[in-house]
Amino acid sequence: MVEGVSKTLWVIVATVFAAAAAVAPVARGQQTPCYFVFGDSVFDNGNNNVLNTSAKVNYLPYGIDFTQGPTGRFSNGRNIPDFIAELAGFNSYIPPFAGASPSQANIGINYASGGGGIREETSQNLGERISLRKQINNHQSAIRNAAVPQSQLRRCLYTISIGSNDYLNNYFLQPPTSARRLFTPDQFADSLIRRYRIYLMELYVLGARNVALFGIGKIGCTPRIVASIGGGVGCAEEVNQAADIFNNELKALVTDLNNKRPGAKFTYVDLFSGNAQDFASLGVTVGDRSCCTVQPGEELCAADGPVCTDRTKYIFWDNVHTTEKINGVIASSAFNGAITSPFSISQLVN
Ligand SMILES: *[C@@H]1O[C@H](CO)[C@@H](O)[C@H](O)[C@H]1NC(C)=O
Repeated sequence: MVEGVSKTLWVIVATVFAAAAAVAPVARGQQTPCYFVFGDSVFDNGNNNVLNTSAKVNYLPYGIDFTQGPTGRFSNGRNIPDFIAELAGFNSYIPPFAGASPSQANIGINYASGGGGIREETSQNLGERISLRKQINNHQSAIRNAAVPQSQLRRCLYTISIGSNDYLNNYFLQPPTSARRLFTPDQFADSLIRRYRIYLMELYVLGARNVALFGIGKIGCTPRIVASIGGGVGCAEEVNQAADIFNNELKALVTDLNNKRPGAKFTYVDLFSGNAQDFASLGVTVGDRSCCTVQPGEELCAADGPVCTDRTKYIFWDNVHTTEKINGVIASSAFNGAITSPFSISQLVN
């Protein structure tokens, strides 16, 4: 559901490389006491395994390049929070809320759920899912049960990727949903951002101070949408434009929250402005089809179906989600600030 890195990607890659050479990264240790993850399938790492949903990927070929095999990550290997955890110096990935021990709330929990949205009804076509509101409720229970002190919660990192499903599995569904009938794209984005603001304030009250908000990528260019709304010929501009409106409002929300809550650092992560050429320069040359086999009309990989040989050449793993290669590029660009504004994730954890 994400595509795009900054035009300055080469600069970033060079910077990362130089920094790695100058400071031995192994010696740096964990840069923040804890890391909490919220969002949709882009960030989910197993929460949907225990739900009655069609958005479930705990089978091969998902995880084909991941040490533990299929875990519920919507990719061939690591997802964006995995790479961020590595960059922030964590020794292990942040485990899913489903099955996490109570004490895990001291280190970090991943609450993300495939199909999750800002609106409660989003993705009801897929079955069960954990909306952003429920994820925040789960966080509240987790930190209370473990009695994690506020002083510690204020030093944690929080990343959120939400909103894509409110378009893909709500606003742009056929036949049109009530959201589509009631709202113009501007009004729909307004309604999402209004709710998002309330949820972020709840998170703030629960101690969140270092928060990275991932915007929506060019979802009109995913193979699923190209094949349907795009008529099989190219990106659905109508869908991209609606996502762009949401992103601009999200950026404005970040500015507003930083002004009104000076003790907090909110940042926007731009997954929209980059383009396929940026990836081509990294050898990722295939952007018009999935690496795994997807049955016509579906978006997830066919169980045990054949996959492309060189996963590092593909942007898309299935018809919506990106490969581990792209997830790594996005995570380092977000960590180093190439695609963030006004703070890099590195600045959030230090
Ligand atoms: C799962 O969801 C489907 C469709 O919503 C429903 O028909 C089925 O009974 C559910 N199964 C379980 C075990 O709850």
